[in-house]
Amino acid sequence: MSYAIFLPLLNCISVTSSRRSEKEPFSPLLLANIGQLVTVELPSKKVGPRRGNDLGELGIIEDGAVLCIAGKIVSVGKTKDALRDPWLKKNRKKIVEIDWSDKVVVPGFVDSHTHPVFVGPRLIDFEKRIEGATYEKIAAAGGGIRSSLGGVRAAGKRELADKVLSALREMAAHGTTTVEAKSGYGLTVESEIKSLQALRDAALSWPGTVVPTLLGAHVVPKEFQGCSQKYVEIVCKEMIPRAAREKLAQFVDVFCDKGAFTAEETQQIFEAAENHGLSLRAHMGQLSETKLTPFLRFHPASFDHMDHVNDEDIAQLAKYDTIATLVPGANYFLALGEYPNARKLIDAGVPVALATDYNPGTSPTLSMPMAMSLACTHMKMSPAEAIAAATINGAWALRLAERKGSIQAGKDADLAVFDVEDYREIPYWFGSNRCEMAVTNGVLSREL
Ligand code: NIG
Ligand code: FE
Repeated sequence: MSYAIFLPLLNCISVTSSRRSEKEPFSPLLLANIGQLVTVELPSKKVGPRRGNDLGELGIIEDGAVLCIAGKIVSVGKTKDALRDPWLKKNRKKIVEIDWSDKVVVPGFVDSHTHPVFVGPRLIDFEKRIEGATYEKIAAAGGGIRSSLGGVRAAGKRELADKVLSALREMAAHGTTTVEAKSGYGLTVESEIKSLQALRDAALSWPGTVVPTLLGAHVVPKEFQGCSQKYVEIVCKEMIPRAAREKLAQFVDVFCDKGAFTAEETQQIFEAAENHGLSLRAHMGQLSETKLTPFLRFHPASFDHMDHVNDEDIAQLAKYDTIATLVPGANYFLALGEYPNARKLIDAGVPVALATDYNPGTSPTLSMPMAMSLACTHMKMSPAEAIAAATINGAWALRLAERKGSIQAGKDADLAVFDVEDYREIPYWFGSNRCEMAVTNGVLSREL
């Protein structure tokens, strides 16, 4: 890979981004002598989400260098080539240089499935499961998602935004720089809108990128039990139009499963979202199988969980860009013996992403390295596949692959630095955080 500074970008970059106009302009940042620079760039330059063997292609540069200016990556290559570059030689005094010898640098993780707008942990559910109750049984008895609603309904927007912001900061400390974040624990028009506003407010104080999703269709709240259609109408006719009008959400998600919303209700919600210009994603196949093919006409960005999926649907999915987002943290925390069949999906050509599914019921982890570790040990994904699934395919799942998910000139300067010598150590050292620093839209995490 050559070290050519991406000049078109240098010409069009202004040094302050509008989102952070109150901050100092970014100094150009040269990250040099990087032990292993994991670019996740595909040598063949094929476009589209990573499938099959391409998922394991990491484009590693030994002794690498990355130059970032004004929140963008402007060049990527070997350190020795970077230091010979005439522009760099001339401007060296203006550049902040960081030596990352013996470190691994990867693209900042893209956590494409999280539920951070909640008030507290669900410790009673936790103990009941330890005693042998299942997630479904606890939910049917009034625990589960419904037991998180009271806290969010009663909370002020500021309190929720503070909770979200501290989650975002902890995610960044584990190497995550882009986060999809759902509402879904209010389930009234007002409390869903309040949750989305809290996401927006938290995002303004965080240098990373937040992609908001309306999950008004998380479960049917108890006031509508037995008349779910009335609730679906509120989602379609009130929540979706308002979230779209106030530009509070980019995606609409539905929990399509037994005990939540039916396939017919999901289609109704998808139609309403489409009519309001919002993109789609859904929780699919977590507890039981739903036929996926009828939903492909909506071109959803992702189907998430995918524990239960049939072979015909797998063959169909391989023809689409809809990402299968696997969230093994949920299987781990619910102590399920089975995990999604990642090997079958990958080998069939389905593009697979990994995410934390951070939430108080099934997956209270913010750590993408933990999700990657579980993917390696329980789903037989290679460490290389886990890294690409946590970066570039996560970016595809959020329709952000033009800007995020790999270390390439022209993309956003989102990087995670790990205090390890080999990228395989990232999923290997589970339960301890080896992430030393993140660069998030060009901002070093130590400046936060
Ligand atoms: O992704 N399945 C739906 N939503 C979450 C769980 C939410 C909860 O239990 O609070 C999930 O697993
Ligand atoms: Fe989820």
